[in-house]
Amino acid sequence: MRIAVIGAGYAGLVAAAGLADFGLTVTAADIDVHKIELLQGGKVPLFEPGLEELVRRNLERGRLRFTAAPAAAVRDSSVIFIAVPTGGRPDATLDLSQLWAAADAISGALNDSKVVVIKSTVPVGTARQLEARLNQTLRPPLHCEVVSNPEFLREGSAVEEFFHPNRVVIGTPSSQAAKIMEEIYRPLYLIATPFVFTTWETAELIKLASNGFLALKISFINELANLCDAIGQGADVHVVARALGLDPRIGSKFLHPGPGFGGSCLPKDARALAQIARQQGTELKTVEAALAANAAQHRRVLEKLKAGLGSLEGKTIAILGLSFKAKTDDVRESQPLKICEALLAEGCSLRVFDPAALPTTRPVLTSDRVRYCSDSLEAVEGCDALVVATEWNEFRNLDLAQVKRIMRGAVLVDARNVFDAGRAKNVGFHYYGMGRS
Ligand code: UGA
Repeated sequence: MRIAVIGAGYAGLVAAAGLADFGLTVTAADIDVHKIELLQGGKVPLFEPGLEELVRRNLERGRLRFTAAPAAAVRDSSVIFIAVPTGGRPDATLDLSQLWAAADAISGALNDSKVVVIKSTVPVGTARQLEARLNQTLRPPLHCEVVSNPEFLREGSAVEEFFHPNRVVIGTPSSQAAKIMEEIYRPLYLIATPFVFTTWETAELIKLASNGFLALKISFINELANLCDAIGQGADVHVVARALGLDPRIGSKFLHPGPGFGGSCLPKDARALAQIARQQGTELKTVEAALAANAAQHRRVLEKLKAGLGSLEGKTIAILGLSFKAKTDDVRESQPLKICEALLAEGCSLRVFDPAALPTTRPVLTSDRVRYCSDSLEAVEGCDALVVATEWNEFRNLDLAQVKRIMRGAVLVDARNVFDAGRAKNVGFHYYGMGRS
């Protein structure tokens, strides 16, 4: 079976390389010619553990190809995955312009009946519209069948999760298309991955609902952390979270407090879900509340800094971690960047470091009061306070006594709770965690 993947971003690239590793012949197409040239040379232009190795292995075995000309890839394939980005618009709707452009590119190249699979995150109703649009100009017996096959991969562990997903969701009214999808994902059947076969609309909703529910969990634990801070007296949100998580009805994952959820997916999808509900004349008040709580959460870091430093004006703050979470260079909707912007607005100077996200941050954080540093120790030099904003492992192992010596001040805001509070206090820090003191 030959497969084309339109869009070689995170989702498309992992899907293309992963499907090639299943033994299928895959061509990934992207309009970004420079990106395609890099990929043809085995270079992956994004930070994703294990992805470059996977791409190279399948390039070498001749099962994976890259092209900037999607038409030929579409013509040569019986199944076409669309994995283009669907960014959020200011009114919370998802921007489908790239998806419709991909659809038109597919339409223009159709020479046979095809299965077209939507991997991109889309509003409910998109698969139905896409099938109508693709078949508009086709003459029977030619026919395109559309499948909704949403993506649940997490940045930073996308490769691992591609081969060991929690579930695969396949939305289609066509039993023939469902069979083809089963065939594509056969290696996952062998490891007993649960498959959910359903309608287009349900599959599309499952994707948005997953991210919406994760948003609820994170905002819940963040608000609980704020409550622990208010209670004081040793109230510890991690002990609360652990005990909550021991109840299988609640589960232990995604109960880690922090400066709020960010990234290019979770906030955007939660907003889109709430917006779809409003559009349908109903409401998702829980999701709206999770979003409102999240919008305020990064300010907690500023409150803690103010508690330690008094006025922030003229202070120099070290920020360790800029990406929206560890193991990625992605700074889209990054809470650490929101903290940086808020601190700059308060009149602070910043010394920043991130193991992967300096190149992605430079174009967006351009103030001359930001100094980009090449490691953690350089960043903390002479600072009044330190904020750990992303949970990179290398920050966990910092020698806090040495950090304290290099800094001017002694305020440490551990926005991801990566340090042992007792140890930080022992070396002389005024330590502020999230929901534990
Ligand atoms: C998210 C979902 O987890 C994936 O299942 C989904 O496929 C993906 O969006 C998508 O729609 O493409 P991702 O954006 O990679 O994946 O990020 P997450 O790991 O979900 O983290 C999102 C944010 O929540 C990060 O800022 C992270 O720091 C924060 N978070 C996560 C917490 O603050 N606490 C937690 O306990 C977990």
